[in-house]
Amino acid sequence: MSGIRNIVILTGAGISAESGILTFRSKGQVTYWDYTDSDGARQSHRVEDVCTPEAFARDPGLVQAFYDARRAALSGVAPNAAHDALARLDAEWRGDLLIVTQNVDDLHERAGARRLLHMHGELKSAWCRACDRRMPWAADLGDGPVCPECRRAGGLRPDIVWFGEMPYGMDVIDRAVSRADLFVSIGTSGAVYPAAGFVQTAKYHGAATLELNLEPSAGSWLFEETRLGAASALVPAWVNEVLGG
Ligand code: APR
Repeated sequence: MSGIRNIVILTGAGISAESGILTFRSKGQVTYWDYTDSDGARQSHRVEDVCTPEAFARDPGLVQAFYDARRAALSGVAPNAAHDALARLDAEWRGDLLIVTQNVDDLHERAGARRLLHMHGELKSAWCRACDRRMPWAADLGDGPVCPECRRAGGLRPDIVWFGEMPYGMDVIDRAVSRADLFVSIGTSGAVYPAAGFVQTAKYHGAATLELNLEPSAGSWLFEETRLGAASALVPAWVNEVLGG
């Protein structure tokens, strides 16, 4: 890895798949999220149908129930070898490093990653539309809790970037990707922008590019190198290469 100092890593749903969290798409198919809501009713949704501001305006109870179920499910999953390997890289890499995740789960931080940016928000965070504050949140939101900051009820929504909303940290990401010597994409289908375009920005500024994914993604052709396989095998092997042993 000579000449590499600044590394940017983009992760997607594929890195959490082996922890038991559903991906959104595979082999071009859309995933249906099946779960039991707090009233015991079976629900099934395409994530696209419940992660828009329009869906929330139309049926806030449904959207809250969907995210409440996903948040609650986090307690039943754990980081896998791929999250662990990236946390080790974060701890040991002396140069600049940024892990940009599209995932709203908390598995990177539970593995120990610190230089981490959740560009699509976090299940374990709530956003109060009454006072515009964001805060750590572990409980349900569907029952319309009071905001601990402004004491108003019913204003809290999942702190998730829905389709049509601006991803978080774009200025920080842009700077890091433009300065990267190596850009690595892990477990993402390359179907959703702006994340899908980071590889082009990185290449434009001269970075080497590597993709680690179970199957060729929509943007595979943009990467200098693609390695196909499970993240739990590919990521630890790649981190060993980078750290030289
Ligand atoms: N190891 C590596 N890659 C895997 C694994 C695995 N074990 N399992 C699945 N994958 C790959 C799939 O082949 C697929 O290419 O991970 C990718 C997951 O793609 P998506 O489900 O589309 O997830 P992602 O790219 O993160 O989606 C982007 O879309 O709906 C939204 O906002 C949501 O952040 C999400 C965004």
